[in-house]
Amino acid sequence: MCVLRLILLLNEESSDIMRRFAIIGHRAMASGKLPLSDLASGAGRMDVLIRALMASLMTSHGLRRDSEVILHLWGGPGPKRRLKFVGREVTGIHAEERSIAGQIAKVIREPSPPIGRWIERDSGIYDSGGSIEDTIREWHQSTIIALDANATRLWSENSPIPTEGKPHSTDFIRDDELDLGFIISDDKTLRVDKFDTLIRRSLGNTWLQGHMAIGVCHFLIDEGVELNI
Ligand SMILES: C[S@@+](CC[C@H](N)C(=O)[O-])C[C@H]1O[C@@H](n2cnc3c(N)ncnc32)[C@H](O)[C@@H]1O
Repeated sequence: MCVLRLILLLNEESSDIMRRFAIIGHRAMASGKLPLSDLASGAGRMDVLIRALMASLMTSHGLRRDSEVILHLWGGPGPKRRLKFVGREVTGIHAEERSIAGQIAKVIREPSPPIGRWIERDSGIYDSGGSIEDTIREWHQSTIIALDANATRLWSENSPIPTEGKPHSTDFIRDDELDLGFIISDDKTLRVDKFDTLIRRSLGNTWLQGHMAIGVCHFLIDEGVELNI
């Protein structure tokens, strides 16, 4: 095995299951000058989206190459916008809220592209117009799960958490379900009843912060817990 391949293997966290996360920012700024010192208020809870982005893409010391995130910025000014971060392509992204906010700020200074036209703004960071309907359409190959504490559990009844862990196990999952898309909202409730292709699943009765919910999804998949999908 060549050294480069070995280094890549050591640095990359990847599995056979593609994980996509659509994060909804009901008030998150879509255009203009992002107030870096006021992410929670003036930027429309951009802090929540950045935490969700970090939880989706990052492990303790690495990047999840099998993970993709689309931030949905609905707070204006101007049309709704989407920023996509592709785990297997991004470079120079650090687990530090302000530095990620800086990368987002650079993108939203530019005019928003038309719906469905993805422009690469930095390596692995893409920018497009559009909303969650467009994301769902683009995720036609995925099993799409809207996370909702009041729904049926995401894991199967009586499924054990394997004590040996079966990292990246695909035993429990059909070939056509090797690509999972999760929809997570910010602090506001997202109405998903109009999307009939989605399934709704819960991670427990207690509502968690979005980034913690994402962490639970990764844990279940990493450990090979049988999913109810
Ligand atoms: C802070 S919660 C939002 C709570 C908000 N009141 C609502 O109704 O959506 C952020 C997001 O994390 C996900 N989430 C939090 N706890 C969850 C749970 N127990 N089960 C499934 N999803 C959860 C949901 O996608 C939720 O929209």
